Amino acid sequence: MSKLFEPLALRGGTLRNRLALSPMCQYTARNGFVNDYHIAHYGRFALGGFGLVMVEATGVSPEARISHGDVGIWDDAHVEGLARIAAFTKQYGAVPGIQIGHAGPKASIQRAFQGNGPLNESDAARGEHPWKVVSPSARPVAEGWLVPTALDAQGIAKIRADFAAAARRALRAGFEVLELHCAHGFLLNAFMSPLTNDRTDAYGGSFENRIRLPLEIVRELREIWPQDKPLFVRISAVDGSRDGWTIEDSVAFAKELDKIGVDIVDCSSGGFGVFDYPSGYGFQVPFAAQIRRETGIRTMAVGLIVDPEQAQTIVASGQADIVALGHGALRDPHFPLHALQALDAADPQNPYADWNIQAGWWLNDRQKRLQRLGPLAAAEKRAPEMSEA
Ligand SMILES: Cc1cc2nc3c(=O)[nH]c(=O)nc-3n(C[C@H](O)[C@H](O)[C@H](O)COP(=O)(O)O)c2cc1C
Repeated sequence: MSKLFEPLALRGGTLRNRLALSPMCQYTARNGFVNDYHIAHYGRFALGGFGLVMVEATGVSPEARISHGDVGIWDDAHVEGLARIAAFTKQYGAVPGIQIGHAGPKASIQRAFQGNGPLNESDAARGEHPWKVVSPSARPVAEGWLVPTALDAQGIAKIRADFAAAARRALRAGFEVLELHCAHGFLLNAFMSPLTNDRTDAYGGSFENRIRLPLEIVRELREIWPQDKPLFVRISAVDGSRDGWTIEDSVAFAKELDKIGVDIVDCSSGGFGVFDYPSGYGFQVPFAAQIRRETGIRTMAVGLIVDPEQAQTIVASGQADIVALGHGALRDPHFPLHALQALDAADPQNPYADWNIQAGWWLNDRQKRLQRLGPLAAAEKRAPEMSEA
């Protein structure tokens, strides 16, 4: 069996394979509540064979959301809908995970497919008004973006309390993996990066001070999240520009995460500055590999991983323990089952054995017929020519 399809035991749970659905905002919630779309959306990746299905960045407070369409977990009333996603994905063999986050200076913007920029009059006309955003410093992401309020001690205490409450709700909803979002220029990343943290108190300045708030939150989450359940942290392994957060900073941060009991460092990148690293296929894999090699912590690789063999090589060569797919999963929610067929010789009598029975039984049945017929001939794809009278 390919390494990609070897189960991975993490604390008390086991992923059936090494393929994860990367967290992806769907901008389709209302007031933070998920709906039938989310059940169908996340459900298809469980049916498609993913080992881990990670629910998108979920706001720990209303103001933590990126957009009005973000999923939320700041109210007990959110738990019921999220629990349906967790239960369904689990029923079909995936481990349900959820990413909790705070968008910080990148909060209060348009849904990506409605502009991905600051909310404007046409958004307001639809009833979608901007809200006040917070960050370590009163520095907007870019010209024309909201100027955030620099968090004071009380504000920081509220952020910590919001993350803690979110983790408790995620547990009640039945999730088995919790991921803390420390990437992509959002609040915790804004604390970590020297490009965006101008503070002069205990949360700014030195590396130790800049990682203080993320680590305080990770420690609290590790206490709340049961010992038999894995905790992941997503980082931007490097900032966009090279004078920001570096891979060496990530290695040092990962060592701290390891000490606290984080199970997986999910290695993304960017968020501040113009990205000037090579950005070809698997461009973030070297970050996952270096962090894994230099700290011994397990890593998840993500970013332009598009092919089963490529994914297999990443795991088999020890660059990462899990491979996450974003766009590739949207394009083919059955990527894992297709990859299994591509990499591992299936039983010719039963090639759809790993598919959900409702589809697999019929596909196995049809396969026997297709085998008898052989490949479809080119001539059979064309319409019969009209015979002239
Ligand atoms: C529609 C969409 C929404 C995303 N939302 C999130 C998110 O909620 N949290 C996050 O950490 N990354 C988010 N990302 C980034 C992905 O998780 C992933 O890291 C990125 O797309 C690179 O992987 P890929 O090349 O396989 O797509 C999003 C990406 C896409 C395409």
